[in-house]
Amino acid sequence: MSSRFSVLVIDDESEILNSVEKMLKDEFNVIVSNSFDDGICKIRELKPDVVIVDLRLGEKDGRDIVKFVVGSKLNSQVIVVSAYSDIENIVECIKMGAFDFVEKPISPTRLRVSIRNAIDNLSLKRVVEKVEFSGIIFKSQKMSEVIELVKKASSTNFPVLILGESGTGKEKIAHLIHSLSRRRDKEFVKINCSAIPSELFESELFGYEKGAFTGAVYSKKGKFEIADGGTLFLDEIGDLSLEHQAKILRAVEYGEIMKVGSKDILNVDVRLVSATNKDIEKMVKEKTFREDSFFRINVITIYLPPLRERKEDIKPLALYFLEETIKSEGLPQKIFSEDALSMLEEYDFPGNIRELKNIVNRLIVISQNDVISTQDIEKVIKNKFNPFEAKIVDLLSSRKSLVRARSDFEKIYILYHLEKNNMNISKTANSLGILPNNLIRRMKKLGISH
Ligand SMILES: Nc1ncnc2c1ncn2[C@@H]1O[C@H](COP(=O)(O)OP(=O)(O)OP(=O)(O)O)[C@@H](O)[C@H]1O
Ligand SMILES: [Mg+2]
Repeated sequence: MSSRFSVLVIDDESEILNSVEKMLKDEFNVIVSNSFDDGICKIRELKPDVVIVDLRLGEKDGRDIVKFVVGSKLNSQVIVVSAYSDIENIVECIKMGAFDFVEKPISPTRLRVSIRNAIDNLSLKRVVEKVEFSGIIFKSQKMSEVIELVKKASSTNFPVLILGESGTGKEKIAHLIHSLSRRRDKEFVKINCSAIPSELFESELFGYEKGAFTGAVYSKKGKFEIADGGTLFLDEIGDLSLEHQAKILRAVEYGEIMKVGSKDILNVDVRLVSATNKDIEKMVKEKTFREDSFFRINVITIYLPPLRERKEDIKPLALYFLEETIKSEGLPQKIFSEDALSMLEEYDFPGNIRELKNIVNRLIVISQNDVISTQDIEKVIKNKFNPFEAKIVDLLSSRKSLVRARSDFEKIYILYHLEKNNMNISKTANSLGILPNNLIRRMKKLGISH
C-alpha cells in the first residue's frame, strides 16, 4: 500500500534486522540496511519517513546517521536503538535532534508506539515551521539556538531544566515546550515551588482523600494527577527543600503517587519541566540541592541568556510590547524615534524582558507626543524615575495621621511588589513574606484591584 509510511532500519546484525522487519511489516513499509554506507545511500534515495538506527554499527558510529538525517533537509525522524547503559550517547543524539530512543532488547510494542509518535510528529514539524513560535519574539542567534533546542525537547519526553536570570522568559519557554509537544491537548500544570507552604506540600501535589485530615470533606486531585498525560512545570525549583525534592523525585522516578490519607498507588504519566534562576550546580556542590534530583530533572538543559547578551532582541521586543499594549488598551498609535530605540539597546536590563516590558508601558504613559523620544527614555531609565519613590516622597511631606500614613505606605509597598512580580499573587505574597490569602485580603481592604 503506497499510503503506508516507510521505515528504514539500519543495523549491522542480520538477526536484529530480520526480527525488527517481522515486528513492523504489517503496519509499515520496512526497508533494511546492514551497513552505515548503505544506510546513508538508502536515506538519500528512498527518503524514508522514519529511520531506526543502532548506535553501534561495527566500526562506524550511529550518531553520524542522526547527524546526517537532522542536517539534511529531509523531513524524516530518527529513532535510536541502544542499550540503556549508553545513556550519554543517547542524550547527545536527542540533543542533536533524534526523536526518541528505544532500549535493547527491543520491545515490539514500544518500538511501534515510538514510530507512530514519530510519524505524528512529522506533521507537527510542518506546523511548527509555519507558525514560527507565536508570542516568542527574537532575532538573536543565541535565541534561535534556544528555539531549536526547544523544538527538539518538545518532541521527546525527557525532563527539561530551564535556567536563566529573572525575567528572561523561562515560564514562556516552558509553555512553548508543552504546546509543541504531543501532550499539548492535556494539562500544563504549574507548581510554584517557592509559594507552597510546607504543611500543604503533599496534599497540593499528590491530592488527598476525603477524611484524610480535619476539613478534608471531599477528596481532591493533586497537581500530579491533574497533569497526568500532560506537563508538570516546577517553577523556582531551586527553592524546594531537600525533603520535598525527595518526595517529588520518587513520584517522578516511579510514575506513582499516593494521595494523603490513601493506601492506593496511582500511576501518573507526567512530563517534567523545571525552571530556576539560581545556580543549581553550585547548590548541588554545596549540598543544598540533591544530586540525584538534579540528574533526574536535568536531562535537557535550556539556558536563556540575559537580554544584555542578546541585544539584537531588544528592538523587536520593544516594538512588539508597544504594539501589544496600544492594541489591548485601545490607545492612540505611538512610535519610537530611531534614536530612542538605539538608546534602549544600550541599557543593561537587569530585570531582562520583564523590565523591558514595564519600561515600554511606562513610556507609553509618560510620552506626550506620538513619537517616543530619547528624552522620554532618559526620564524612565537614565534617571531611574520610579513612580513608587515619588509616592513615598509625597507621603513623607503629607500631614497624615500615623494610621492613615501606615495604610498608604502599605498600599504603595504592595503595589510595588505586585508590579515587580508581574501582578502574580503567589510570588508577591512570597516576596512580602505573607500567605497569598492574606495578601488578597489586604488588597481588598486597601482597594487594590487585581
Ligand atoms: N521572547 C519573548 N517574547 C515576548 N515576550 C516575552 C519573551 N520572553 C519573555 N517574555 C515576557 O516577559 C515577561 C517575563 O517572562 P517570564 O515570566 O517567562 O520570565 P521568567 O524567566 O519566568 O522570570 P522569573 O525568573 O522572574 O520567574 C512575561 O511577560 C513574558 O510574557
Ligand atoms: Mg518565572
